[in-house]
Amino acid sequence: MTTQPELAAMHRAIELSACGLGTTSPNPVVGAVILDRDGQVVGEGFHERAGGPHAEVVALASAGPRARGGTAVVTLEPCRTTGRTPPCVQALRDAGVVRVRYAVADPTAAGGGGEELSAAGVDVVAGVLAEAAARVNESWLHAVRHGRPFVVWKSATTLDGRVAAADGSSRWITGPEARADVHRLRSQLDAVVVGSGTALLDDPQLTVRDGTGRAAGRQPLRVVLDRRGRVPVTARVRDDAAPSLVVHEPEPAAALAVLFDRGIRSVLLEGGPQLSAAFFAAGLVDKAICYIAPALLGEGPAAVAPFGVGSIEAAKRFRIDDVELVGGDVKVTAYPAEEA
Ligand SMILES: NC(=O)c1ccc[n+]([C@@H]2O[C@H](COP(=O)([O-])OP(=O)(O)OC[C@H]3O[C@@H](n4cnc5c(N)ncnc54)[C@H](OP(=O)(O)O)[C@@H]3O)[C@@H](O)[C@H]2O)c1
Repeated sequence: MTTQPELAAMHRAIELSACGLGTTSPNPVVGAVILDRDGQVVGEGFHERAGGPHAEVVALASAGPRARGGTAVVTLEPCRTTGRTPPCVQALRDAGVVRVRYAVADPTAAGGGGEELSAAGVDVVAGVLAEAAARVNESWLHAVRHGRPFVVWKSATTLDGRVAAADGSSRWITGPEARADVHRLRSQLDAVVVGSGTALLDDPQLTVRDGTGRAAGRQPLRVVLDRRGRVPVTARVRDDAAPSLVVHEPEPAAALAVLFDRGIRSVLLEGGPQLSAAFFAAGLVDKAICYIAPALLGEGPAAVAPFGVGSIEAAKRFRIDDVELVGGDVKVTAYPAEEA
């Protein structure tokens, strides 16, 4: 049974887990809350970076002796193996926790901690708010299951789906609020990817910037897919404001493999049309975030170049997950329909 305070604690733990977005790869994001024997919150924590303490350990440290006889509420099954840090199962037992509530089972070799805790007499309930917790961890879960980074395709278009005008100008299609939202998104993913066309034509910096336009906060790896080595070292995307990487692999899958080997687990694919088409043709887009501005161009490139869809029947379909107004623009979040 899961009590009301435990459910509330899980909501909080999920919120805490999101604080690690963008900094934990190749590890998952995890949040934890400790309740004392009366159900009062006495400790909180989240996993901040690979090699750093796990969420349970941070939360137990903040709870101190008040954890004894209490409950640990965690978004991911506590690990039972020694990685760069000791197993959390042992830390929970040493702290005298008698109940564990977790959301998502750990699909890796570190999984099985729930069973181990049960076998040791701890009252364990799995699957508490699992869907909501898995959503925050979607990149990591996807990367573990498929052995490649989770790809979020982002576009900023007019009402008629165009990403640039006939003269090539594209700044700015959407308003400042939507652009700020993109900066927040960048900060939560491991890498930002564009094609050489965008790097050459727009010369974007692709950093996370604050309101003054300066690079600020955590910076994702900036990646240009440039098969022919056309992007010069003087391109802004290769400046020293943040780390950058030029990848010469001919296929999106091969480029993603290079990124995966570097510990990248999530990617924001920011275009342009040709590279987007290549990713869609290869079935390598896992989520779409589309900002739509109330403007018409009538001509200019569409967000995605042709990728082999010849009929309505063959259309690439999505399931809308969320629609919101961001400033004066609409933000649509969707997942490929076949993965719904
Ligand atoms: N509003 C928006 O959200 C947005 C976002 C991005 C871009 N844009 C607009 O898009 C326009 C640029 O369009 P674009 O289509 O030329 O840019 P792009 O898709 O960024 O770059 C295309 C280039 O990427 C390289 N590439 C590397 N790997 C590839 C692969 N596997 N498959 C296909 N191409 C690969 C190719 O050059 P190599 O063969 O030399 O490698 C290709 O010519 C600009 O006008 C820009 O303003 C708008």
